[in-house]
Amino acid sequence: AKVVPTVFSWVPVMGNAVEFGKDPIQFLKSCQKKYGDVFTFQLVNKKVTACLGPDGNQFVFNARQNVASAAAAYNDMTKYVFGRDIVFDTQHSIFMEQKRFIKSGLSIDTFRKDVPLILEECNLFLDKMEPKGQVDAYHMFGALIINTASRTLLGPEVRNALDDGVAQLYYDLDQGFRPINFMFPNLPLPAYRKRDVAREKLATLYSQIIEGRRNNPDNVQEDLLQTLMDSRYKDGSGIPDAQICGILTAALFGGQHTSSTTSAWAILELAHRPDIVTALRQEMIEKLGSLKAEFTYDNLEELPLLENIVRETLRLHPPIFNMMRRVVVDEMVYEKNGLVIPKGNYICAAPGVTQIDETYFNNPMKWNPYRWSEKTDPVHALEQGEDANIDYGFGAVGISSRSPFLPFGAGRHRCIGEKFGYLQLKAVIGTFVKRFDFEGVTEHVPKPDYTSMVVVPENSNIRFTRRD
Ligand code: HEM
Repeated sequence: AKVVPTVFSWVPVMGNAVEFGKDPIQFLKSCQKKYGDVFTFQLVNKKVTACLGPDGNQFVFNARQNVASAAAAYNDMTKYVFGRDIVFDTQHSIFMEQKRFIKSGLSIDTFRKDVPLILEECNLFLDKMEPKGQVDAYHMFGALIINTASRTLLGPEVRNALDDGVAQLYYDLDQGFRPINFMFPNLPLPAYRKRDVAREKLATLYSQIIEGRRNNPDNVQEDLLQTLMDSRYKDGSGIPDAQICGILTAALFGGQHTSSTTSAWAILELAHRPDIVTALRQEMIEKLGSLKAEFTYDNLEELPLLENIVRETLRLHPPIFNMMRRVVVDEMVYEKNGLVIPKGNYICAAPGVTQIDETYFNNPMKWNPYRWSEKTDPVHALEQGEDANIDYGFGAVGISSRSPFLPFGAGRHRCIGEKFGYLQLKAVIGTFVKRFDFEGVTEHVPKPDYTSMVVVPENSNIRFTRRD
């Protein structure tokens, strides 16, 4: 058996964690040069086998769950944040049912009703901003998106409770979701205790809301909460309230940081490209009649530049740039070169690396939304793999896990929130661009900071002036 090359480390206990922590993309790229696409490195107490390139993406995303498991990789951490018996803390087949429940709550009919709610939340929030000033875009969009996401996914009751301290509970829960928690999921420290208290308090709040809806049949809502209350497992049983609470928290987490960072990055990139801001406003005027026209689900579909701004931001600044599984069989063989990965190792795909590889994207470090409409990049010429025809029931058919562009992952664990994510991002970014002029405070777009679970800008300040 051929052994996977191991990255050398000077530091005995930490292994490569310091270098990886500082700039994982650079670390992975420089190891790739030295060792090829497949190599093992040490993250404190974990051995991680990176599987890079489109072949690596395919290897990791197509792995069977009883060979390389996402639950075995993530549950040590997620069970403390989301709660028990859901997502990775249950049998794979049960999670797949739960995933389909969430997916069924994210239908086009629901989206049509969501858009006015998202716009109302955006406008309420933006109305309160000063006519002129400076703001941290990541914090601003974080605060806004918790409103839009909880209003649409969790419903009006949770949204109304946000202003009374519930936002702080999400913040405390969040502190259990940092890279450090991947290495040390549970420690007797105040932050971990706060996380647990916040999870319990949220569960109590959600349970009260569920009770309230059950006792008041006139309260008819069409949100994810209601979908889950009305869903049935294949064996005919309803979803227990405690599980509904956990699934709601997981869904909110799935959409919250990913969308806040993506909108912040998009606005920071646009802040340095006034020509694209002008072109985007022009597109809105041409397609919608004027900048005053309200967005709807349907007219947001007719704004290709806005869509490509989101897509290009996800390429260059993917909020989740690597995804892990854990080997649960004695040995897993990387077929392409016969390398053997032992039980207990994590395998790691890094679309964040293929997405800036010049083999697939011309001038890859340049943020250029037009590359998607010009279709000049080699990525457009890639044939779809056979695995693109597998239907996992999440609407991911047609997406090969061998693609170099996978900001939503691939295969059985692929994101079910892509459509909702795009919709929310287009509405939020579009509304901000309509209502504000803005510019960066630094000469160049800021560098990424990798110390939080999603990749955030190092400095996300912008100067803004109200246009209306
Ligand atoms: C899975 C990214 C929005 C719910 C994933 C994965 C990625 C991702 C990369 C795959 C993880 C893996 O393979 O290990 C994103 C991005 C988003 C976004 C970039 C927004 C821009 C959302 C939203 C929701 C959501 C809005 C919920 C409403 C989920 C769920 C999974 C998932 C349930 C499945 C996890 C699994 O099967 O293991 N997402 N997501 N995501 N996401 Fe998203």
